[in-house]
Amino acid sequence: MPRVTVQPAGVQFEVEDGESVAEAAWRQGYVWPTRCWGQADCMSCFTKIVGGELNAIPADENELDAIRLKLAAPLRNDPTVRLGCQLRCTGDALVVEKRGFRVTSAEDNNMVDPAESHSA
Ligand code: FES
Repeated sequence: MPRVTVQPAGVQFEVEDGESVAEAAWRQGYVWPTRCWGQADCMSCFTKIVGGELNAIPADENELDAIRLKLAAPLRNDPTVRLGCQLRCTGDALVVEKRGFRVTSAEDNNMVDPAESHSA
């Protein structure tokens, strides 16, 4: 099963066949920034490939169109920039950089007792 490493967090996780990197992160309880949950619309999930690029499956027209039309110019012209919600991989050498990626906290799951969160 393919694996991806996310920097600077230094976290590695498995990606199922046909699953995007962001989908794999969400499934396994990580926070990968999004507002559209995989619709190639919000651009919050964009990431940069920093290693193992041969393990990245090339972007399809849907992803390329979104990058060309919705990302800021410096990003849209960077060939290492991909959408995490569209990026699929093979092997275990892919390394991406994603700011905002993190392990889900108790707050993300609404597990914090409001009474406790206001205590001093
Ligand atoms: S999650 Fe919104 S564009 Fe990828």
